[in-house]
Amino acid sequence: MAQLIDGKKISSDIKEELRIEVQQLKEQGISVCLAVVQVGEDPASCVYVKNKKRACSYIGIESKSYELPENTTEEELVKLVETLNQDDSVNGILVQLPLPDHINEDRIINLIRPEKDVDGFHPINIGRLWTGEKGFLSCTPAGIIQLLKRSDIQMSGKECVIIGRSNIVGKPMAALMLRENATVTIAHSKTVNLKEITKRADIVIVALGKEKFINSEYIKEGAVVIDVGMHRDVNNKLCGDVDFMDVEPHTSAITPVPGGVGPMTIAMLMNNCVETVRV
Ligand code: GUN
Repeated sequence: MAQLIDGKKISSDIKEELRIEVQQLKEQGISVCLAVVQVGEDPASCVYVKNKKRACSYIGIESKSYELPENTTEEELVKLVETLNQDDSVNGILVQLPLPDHINEDRIINLIRPEKDVDGFHPINIGRLWTGEKGFLSCTPAGIIQLLKRSDIQMSGKECVIIGRSNIVGKPMAALMLRENATVTIAHSKTVNLKEITKRADIVIVALGKEKFINSEYIKEGAVVIDVGMHRDVNNKLCGDVDFMDVEPHTSAITPVPGGVGPMTIAMLMNNCVETVRV
């Protein structure tokens, strides 16, 4: 039987640890405040933003909400980020992505002060990640490292294949697995012979964005499988990039969807918020 990696439980544990830490900080007169900026009303973004604000409230982090209309100009958003950068009562700034097409996402990300970049998207924080300096880590990859560590899964010396090369998941994931002394391969849409590559892996991290794409033919017997995907199947049921029913019997450990990687992203965002005030 494969070990089911319980992201719901692990994320709850982390949030509980943070709640206690924030309480202790408050007793020392230190508070934490996150500014959450959303432009437009993308339905998925609305759900994410609501969940982020709810997590803040549970942990004791103050959240300031900026819900801007879809037709907000780039200059208006620039002004808001500059104001939040200067505001000493704001510790972290989160601009929910995607932004509307008329706004240059990179310009906005680069504008957020690296010390307030709790998403870990600023090039300075990405550079720090690759050099091993202290900085904010991208939340989903950092969450996956916590899932593995807290499930006692060894990474050092293991062959890890990451499918997907996005700036938010694939690339920072590779840096973090390297930091844990894994041997890392990044596969992507132009990779030839994907099966041959994933079949070598002790740990497969799947973030390719295609519903139930990875079946047992891609997986070595006894491998660990981490599924970052999130889709609704034909029956409107949530599922991932991995065909769980087919793959699970061949693994030693696997994350479910939902209840695997998903809940970890917000837990790690909360951790980054608290990190802004840790000495
Ligand atoms: N959109 C999808 N995931 C994320 C995330 O982790 N942070 C932000 N800011 N936007 C997102």
